[in-house]
Amino acid sequence: MTQWLTLSRAARLIGVPRGALQRQVREGALPSNEGLVSIEGLLRLYPEFRVEDSGAFERVARIKNEAFGRRVQERVLPSQEVLAQRLYAQSRELADAQRHLSRYHELVIELWAKLDAVVAAAPRTDLDLLHADFARGLAEVLATESAGALAIMDDMLRVVSAHVKVRPSGHEFFVDGRDTLLQAGLKAGLNLPYGCGNGTCGLCKARVVSGAVTKVAPFDYRLSEAERHQGYTLLCAHSPGSGEIVIETLEAGGPGEIPEQEIELRVRQVQALAGDTLLVHAQTPRSTRLRFLAGQSVTLYGNADGLEVQGVYPIASCPCDDRNLQFHIARDEGDALAEMFFAGAARAGDTLRLWGPTGDFVLAESGRPLSFIACDTGFAPVKSLIEHAIAGEEVEAISLDWLATRPDRHYLANQCRAWAAAFDGFRYAAHADRDPAQGARRLVEALATELPLASRDVYVAGPGAFVEAAATALGEAGVPDAQLRVTVV
Ligand code: FES
Repeated sequence: MTQWLTLSRAARLIGVPRGALQRQVREGALPSNEGLVSIEGLLRLYPEFRVEDSGAFERVARIKNEAFGRRVQERVLPSQEVLAQRLYAQSRELADAQRHLSRYHELVIELWAKLDAVVAAAPRTDLDLLHADFARGLAEVLATESAGALAIMDDMLRVVSAHVKVRPSGHEFFVDGRDTLLQAGLKAGLNLPYGCGNGTCGLCKARVVSGAVTKVAPFDYRLSEAERHQGYTLLCAHSPGSGEIVIETLEAGGPGEIPEQEIELRVRQVQALAGDTLLVHAQTPRSTRLRFLAGQSVTLYGNADGLEVQGVYPIASCPCDDRNLQFHIARDEGDALAEMFFAGAARAGDTLRLWGPTGDFVLAESGRPLSFIACDTGFAPVKSLIEHAIAGEEVEAISLDWLATRPDRHYLANQCRAWAAAFDGFRYAAHADRDPAQGARRLVEALATELPLASRDVYVAGPGAFVEAAATALGEAGVPDAQLRVTVV
């Protein structure tokens, strides 16, 4: 019997990006039926597939270990309760299938005996043909090979890693380890609605259309009787209780749908990334999360010698990083808040006020390959976008070109090399030029000889002169305005 898989699950099993399979379906190399692909089709396309080197499980661990910060990692297995519930759901499906199979088996044997008797008593041509067809069909069924490696791995994945489909967007994601539906959805790059993240506000409410959920975190918010009856649940307090579930919720379609928020942050760490660049790691209170889209900025307010100072900074972390927010702050004489940090006047434990998010330097869902071009701390919003794009597993190819106007301004080059090592379709190149405008022109010139830029979405971030020169050069290289997004940092 043909076993059908969603594209997301098939991509996980084979160990390729979902975007790569989507392309194969578009090009007709991989037949699909209502968005599903068969295990047989997959094996025809990837005949060299072997369980031991498919990387289905290893790939997930490798992505987390090599490409994300430690905070994004989590324990690999779900809790015992969640595992037990998913196993129970799967065992019930299996028991139902076995019961039906044994009834079909009895029916077939019974029909076979009757047909045998009729043919023996009064042989007729048509009946003989039917008899022979039946005999051949039965022989083929009995000769069916036992379940293949892919089917077995798919069954295992259903227990340790539940698959979630979101309606009406059609987005899909997996829930690994002890994540809640909300945590897993954010890690997968979805713009799910939420507020507190801890079961208090009710903003993450979603309807479970099919499948089961199980509570994995305490919550105070009370769903009404009618909501419970209609299948509503809190995404921040539940995990899938079956291997497949479908939920209904409205994801943010763009920056205009993200509310402005005012939140008090606590500084966790101020660390030098380079001579004139600091990493400021701050955290929201336990009862609050900042809802934002990767690539957006916020205004931070601090206190220097009794005076309130402020600055606008892109967030360098991605929404999947829970309560943690990172900023790359460069020394700039006109920036009083940056001066406060460089003077050592803000330390771990101090509070900052945040207002935002703002800006529309966010990912467009086009399915095209992505090119990121950054200069100095323009890398901050680009880092957020790249983490978001990688988490979504939709993009087949990403390029990153980072220009430094001073030798120490490739301050997270190891991170970029780790991405390039962990993901097949990731290309990283470092550039250096003291003049940002000249550097931008040279960078785009070199990039255009390597990649078909006109067919990519291009994101540019950095100082004004860099962004302006890069945008002009990209236009000359054939990148349509609609595929170009820029931000001045
Ligand atoms: S209850 Fe607030 S985000 Fe879930």
